[in-house]
Amino acid sequence: MESKLFIALLVAALLAFSAAKDDDSNGSDSGSESMGSWGDSFEEKEEDCDRLVDGSDDNNGDCDLTDGLEEVKDKCDKCDEDDKIKITNWIASLKIEISVKVTVEERLILASASIMKFQMENPTVYELIQFKNVSSWGMLSYFTKVVEVRQTTKVESLVTLDDEDNCPLFDALMNCTGDSYEQQSAVNALINETLLEICGDMTLSVTKKNVKIFEALSKFFSINTEWQSSFFQFKIQGFGTFQQFYQITKSFYQKTQVDVILEGEVEECGFMVSFKNQLQLIKADMTISASVKSTLSLFYDR
Ligand SMILES: *[C@@H]1O[C@H](CO)[C@@H](O)[C@H](O)[C@H]1NC(C)=O
Ligand SMILES: *[C@@H]1O[C@H](CO)[C@@H](O)[C@H](O)[C@H]1NC(C)=O
Ligand SMILES: *[C@@H]1O[C@H](CO)[C@@H](O)[C@H](O)[C@H]1NC(C)=O
Ligand SMILES: *[C@@H]1O[C@H](CO)[C@@H](O)[C@H](O)[C@H]1NC(C)=O
Repeated sequence: MESKLFIALLVAALLAFSAAKDDDSNGSDSGSESMGSWGDSFEEKEEDCDRLVDGSDDNNGDCDLTDGLEEVKDKCDKCDEDDKIKITNWIASLKIEISVKVTVEERLILASASIMKFQMENPTVYELIQFKNVSSWGMLSYFTKVVEVRQTTKVESLVTLDDEDNCPLFDALMNCTGDSYEQQSAVNALINETLLEICGDMTLSVTKKNVKIFEALSKFFSINTEWQSSFFQFKIQGFGTFQQFYQITKSFYQKTQVDVILEGEVEECGFMVSFKNQLQLIKADMTISASVKSTLSLFYDR
């Protein structure tokens, strides 16, 4: 199994495990309290996330989200000066992006797109701040998830064919290509040879459709790697960026992978085998504290 996927699962699982500790924050306000918020209903978080961008249209982009990020930056012990400058510059551009007179919903999408772009361009800095509590709302990485779930319902309309066998996704892909003939013909081929059939297949469930679209797109980008970042920044009318669309199809794909790695007998399924192997490595690692080791062992047993 891909080790990144394993780590992502482990992190998710650990968050759900009440004994987990947040080693970045300190003492009493870590552990149980942050775990409590993880258990909050998704709806509550979703509603509350509106306040993060509240007023950004009237205050040059200033809002709870940008204030929260400033605070995250100031409190980030592991960030060096360079990292902090990158975060400062990003906050400045984020403010410009969300100071537009559009609905809260659209500003949330813009903010989430900006976070994902920052993550793509500065993966190591993002890692230092992704689990920080932003403006007492919750983790930065959770913000993009919440926005993603809101957008998921819209994805269906993007991939539904009209009478002319066209759909907004195809338009968006064509729009991404600009004037490049090479890109246009590659995208034409992608649509004609793969996407048209997937989007037109009425027997596919929403999940299967998205999984197939993800597979087609990821293959496309593995061949045309150098196009990915410009395509990703492209805005799909009434939706968000192409990257956000891609991420949603990827989430559908990842969910199907979770089923695969949990298949079979508990002791023998991919997840547990991988976990056990990692646990051996972790136990042998002198730089990892005893309490982390025991938490992970307990979690494995459970
Ligand atoms: C933990 O927080 C308290 C008060 O907020 C502070 O006085 C203390 O220095 C912190 N300890 C560590 C290890 O950061
Ligand atoms: C974020 O901070 C708020 C307020 O201190 C707290 O209620 C919440 O549990 C925290 N959430 C996370 C994920 O740490
Ligand atoms: C599909 O291919 C035909 C020619 O083979 C082309 O004329 C048409 O524009 C293509 N359709 C799409 C949606 O790209
Ligand atoms: C593609 O670009 C055209 C022209 O700018 C625009 O009207 C259309 O909404 C775009 N389509 C999508 C799906 O973003």
